Amino acid sequence: MSRGGATLALALGFFLGAGAAAAASPEELARGELLFHIGGCTNCHTAEGGPLLAGGDPLETPFGRFYAPNITPDPETGIGRWSEADFLRAMREGRSPSGAPYYPAFPYTSYAKMSEADLRALKAYLDTIPPVRRPNREHELGFPYNVRWGLLLWQWAFHDPAPFRPDPTKSEAWNRGAYLVLGPGHCAECHTPRTWYGALDDSRAFAGGRLGKEVIPNITSDPEKGIGRWTAGDLRGLLVIGIKPDGDFVGGDMAKVVRNGTAKLPEADREAIVEFLLSLPPR
Ligand code: HEC
Ligand code: HEC
Repeated sequence: MSRGGATLALALGFFLGAGAAAAASPEELARGELLFHIGGCTNCHTAEGGPLLAGGDPLETPFGRFYAPNITPDPETGIGRWSEADFLRAMREGRSPSGAPYYPAFPYTSYAKMSEADLRALKAYLDTIPPVRRPNREHELGFPYNVRWGLLLWQWAFHDPAPFRPDPTKSEAWNRGAYLVLGPGHCAECHTPRTWYGALDDSRAFAGGRLGKEVIPNITSDPEKGIGRWTAGDLRGLLVIGIKPDGDFVGGDMAKVVRNGTAKLPEADREAIVEFLLSLPPR
C-alpha cells in the first residue's frame, strides 16, 4: 500500500473506531451495565470508599496478595487507551495488550464464556465510567507465582476460551441462567473447589469447600450438603436481599455478590438463575 493509502486507511480506521464508540445505543449501554453488575467488577476493582473501578483492596489468595488494577478509562493509569479488541482479548484469553498472561485471580476463566455482543456492550459501558488517575499497585506474590510468564503454561493446560454453548434440550430460561452463572456471574470461581493446580474441579462443580480462610457452601441440589431443601422462594430471598431460609443474612464476599450483582438484575434474569441453580446435580 502507498503511504497515502496507509494514511487514509489509518484515518478511516480512526474515524470508524471513534464512530463505533460514539454509537453505543442506550440499549447497549443498559445491557453493558447489567453485565457490569452481575460481573461483580466493582467487588474487586473498587477499594472500600475509593473511586469506582480505580483499583481494589488487597485480594488474599493462597498464592499471595493481588491488587485488581484501575480499569477506568484514564489513559495513563487505567485502560483508556485500550481498543475493543484489547478488551475482548483480556476477557477471553486472559492476555494483556502486550500479550502477557493474566493471573486467574481475574476470573477471565469464566468471562471467556460471555458472548462477543455482551463483551462489546460491557466495554461500551465501562467507557462511560469517570476516568480516575490512580497508579496500580504491584501484586505481592512469592516465588514461583511471581513469574508471570509461567502462567502461559497454566493457560495452555487449563484455560478453555470457548464461549458458552446453550443446551437445546433445556428451556430458554435455564440456558439464560446457566449463561449468567457460568459466564459473567462467575459463581463457580468461588463455589467450585479447585485442583492442586488451581483449576476448577468440574467433577465437583458447585460443591463448595474452602477458599483461603472462607468456607464456601455447597450450592448443588444435594439435600444434606447442598441447598436441595431450598424452595425457589428461598433462593429468590437470597438473591434479592441475601437472606437465608434460617433468617440469617449472608456475609463477606457473598454479601457483595448480592448487593452489587444479583439484587440489581431484572426479575426474569434472577428467575433464570433460580431455575438453573435448582437443577444442579447433587455433589
Ligand atoms: C475476583 C476479583 C475480580 C473480579 C470480580 C474482576 N476482576 Fe478484573 N482483575 C482482577 C485482578 C486481580 C486483575 C489483575 C490480573 C493480573 O495482574 O494478572 C484484573 C485485571 C483486569 C483487567 C486488566 C487490566 C490491566 O490493566 O491490564 C481488566 C480489563 C479487568 N480486570 C476487567 C474486569 C471486568 C470488566 C470485570 C467485571 C466483569 C472484572 N475485571 C472483574 C480481579 C478481578
Ligand atoms: C467471591 C466468592 C463468591 C462468589 C463469586 C459467589 N459466591 Fe455465593 N457464597 C460465597 C460465600 C462465602 C457464601 C457463604 C456466605 C455466608 O453464609 O455468609 C456464599 C453463599 C451462597 C449461597 C447460600 C448457600 C447457603 O447454604 O447458605 C448461595 C445460594 C450462593 N452463594 C449462590 C451464588 C451465586 C448464584 C453466585 C453467582 C451469581 C455466587 N454465589 C457467587 C462466595 C461467593
